[in-house]
Amino acid sequence: AHQWRGVIREYADRLPMLDGAPVITLCEGGTPLIPAERLSERVGASVHVKYEGLNPTGSFKDRGMTTAISMAAKAGAKAVICASTGNTSASAAAYATKAGMTCGVLVPAGKIAMGKLSQAIAHGATLLQVDGNFDDCLTLARKLAESYPVELVNSVNPARIEGQKTASFEIIDALGDAPDIHCLPVGNAGNITAYWRGYREAAQTGEQPALSTKTPRMWGFQAEGAAPIVKGFPIDHPETIATAIRIGNPASWRQAEQARDDSGGLIDSVTDDQILDAHRLLSSTEGIFVEPGSAASIAGLLMMHERGEIPSGATIVCTVTGHGLKDPDWALKAADGSALEPAKISVDAVSAARELGLV
Ligand code: F0G
Repeated sequence: AHQWRGVIREYADRLPMLDGAPVITLCEGGTPLIPAERLSERVGASVHVKYEGLNPTGSFKDRGMTTAISMAAKAGAKAVICASTGNTSASAAAYATKAGMTCGVLVPAGKIAMGKLSQAIAHGATLLQVDGNFDDCLTLARKLAESYPVELVNSVNPARIEGQKTASFEIIDALGDAPDIHCLPVGNAGNITAYWRGYREAAQTGEQPALSTKTPRMWGFQAEGAAPIVKGFPIDHPETIATAIRIGNPASWRQAEQARDDSGGLIDSVTDDQILDAHRLLSSTEGIFVEPGSAASIAGLLMMHERGEIPSGATIVCTVTGHGLKDPDWALKAADGSALEPAKISVDAVSAARELGLV
């Protein structure tokens, strides 16, 4: 019997940084790359969805947290800290628990989804709600890590990027080569940085043989009210319903621009309405439930299709970064904002059949 062993063990030969570190894992990674027939038909390309919501804590953060917490354990750390829009905190809290460390979390007050908040609390993290946005939280977390005995596990920690690059290897493994285009949401810009590193390393022959013959164009999408890279300047008061990517001054800004430019790609923005439309489309036509921030990749793909920018027959991967159950309230609202409420019936087959549309 064989089960997936987590990204550190599965990709040990491509993660030299982790040599000699204890492996702290919840068997993350190995997520499905799902062919999306309806989306493919709509945009005239071969579209696949990398469903990162199926990681142990429900987001892609687990790939980088197994490596960051393992490196922290190697260094003898007893405590870790992070700033978060929610998913990093859920992941850090779970992996710190697994490692027997304490975890401190700084989140923007009132701006993180309930599922993520409950995860961090369930895993015993000390959660502080900061009167400020994510960027303020990250500044604060960096100061604390400089002055106190606590390890910072945000994506400015190089081990995070190393772990997250493994998603590219899995995609190449599933497709047999790199895709032509890769779409993903951009917030603090760690993930686009990590994917690009993974794709570049996979295309090189070095200590390991090349895994792919090419690298994809990286298409990153920010939320319109939180689109500093698109606008070219930091946003002091970022706003979007996609709280995961409500970030005004991304830590990996330069690296994201490099991924964009070196890959011949782009970073653009999508509106909250486009994000919610894509969120509904994915759940109602592909059977894939994601949180709104994750749907930015799909919204971007659809926008590029409307602009006539999708090369016909291209192989495209869209990463959807977090599970729909993280922030489920959006599924209960229609496009016009009205509540989607199930009908109430008595115990009666005729009325049930009528409501079910069977007659
Ligand atoms: N999608 C989701 C669901 C996220 O939680 C994040 C980031 C992103 C996309 C953007 O990824 O920051 O690497 O560009 N969430 C961080 C957090 C900021 O604290 O959970 P990025």
